[in-house]
Amino acid sequence: MAKNKVTVVGAGNVGATAAQRIVEKQLADVVLIDIVEGLPQGKALDMMQSASTEGFDTEIIGTNDYADTAGSDVVVITAGIARKPGMSRDDLLSTNAKIVGSVTKQVVANSPNAIIVVVSNPLDVMTFLSWKESGLDHKRVVGMAGVLDSSRYAMFISEALNCSIKDVRAMVLGGHGDTMVPVPEYSTVNGVSINQLLPADKIEEINTRTQHGGAEIVKHLKTGSAYYAPSASAVAMVEAILLDSDRILPVCAYLQGEYGLSDVYCGVPAALGKDGISRVIEIDLSDASKKALHSSADQVRELSEKVLTLV
Ligand code: NAI
Ligand code: 2OP
Repeated sequence: MAKNKVTVVGAGNVGATAAQRIVEKQLADVVLIDIVEGLPQGKALDMMQSASTEGFDTEIIGTNDYADTAGSDVVVITAGIARKPGMSRDDLLSTNAKIVGSVTKQVVANSPNAIIVVVSNPLDVMTFLSWKESGLDHKRVVGMAGVLDSSRYAMFISEALNCSIKDVRAMVLGGHGDTMVPVPEYSTVNGVSINQLLPADKIEEINTRTQHGGAEIVKHLKTGSAYYAPSASAVAMVEAILLDSDRILPVCAYLQGEYGLSDVYCGVPAALGKDGISRVIEIDLSDASKKALHSSADQVRELSEKVLTLV
């Protein structure tokens, strides 16, 4: 059976770590591409030299030429600049719009049947832009944020309850920014909502920490942003697509009336498989969560209208 092929665009922190996770899990052969000459080649060669020790048969190459990416099944776009301390994700808008716009065109020219997973920030707007520039069905262009934000939420819940992270299922919806929407009514420990397990002020504290989870790490690192959890989250989505597993994950999807929202990319639960998003799952939300989701989507919509004028 032919091996799967995944291209990762951007050989920086998130891209290279995602590439490493994909080859080590033997999910696919990987093409790592970057605009900087030598960077993807050096990192790919270094990773290949761990194959004997780690014991993987998948291969990774580094390149600056999109011809090498041809026929990819999935393309993960991490190209762009990352946040510096004090910078919001939206400050990245103009620079990353030009990068993501041009990358998307080259990706689709070489891999017209790929599913695109966008990681570059500001995430929801970049996913919208990538979809517009790709000319693909919206189901084939999806953004990664909810998996990351939910995994941060899960970590804080397990810490607060001193319970195994394995028993925690957490849900964060909305845009990937300070307006993201942690949803305690659907965040559970072995099926029990955290509303029954934690006092309201503790939940509020955890929600706020989750909303600022990326900034907390930027503050520590000073010269870049998070990449271990972000790469793991992107690879969870790649895996769901390659294995056609129809996993229901919180992902940035194009909405056409679901949750009363239209013509906007926003974080919602959706089933992910070989054709991308097979369905958006609509769940009953509390009035507070619904209101917060709408306000988060409104912010994304405003920037999405602006971004098309920037490329
Ligand atoms: P990084 O700076 O380590 O890597 C970015 C890479 O993109 C660099 O190697 C750079 O040379 C490359 N690049 C720039 N222009 C390019 C182009 N035109 N074509 C190909 N490659 C190009 O940044 P890092 O930490 O890997 O983050 C990447 C992006 O992902 C940032 O925008 C960051 O904000 C975003 N991010 C999003 C998350 C999410 O939850 N959606 C989580 C973490 C990061
Ligand atoms: C994060 O949440 C910077 O968006 C990135 O870590």
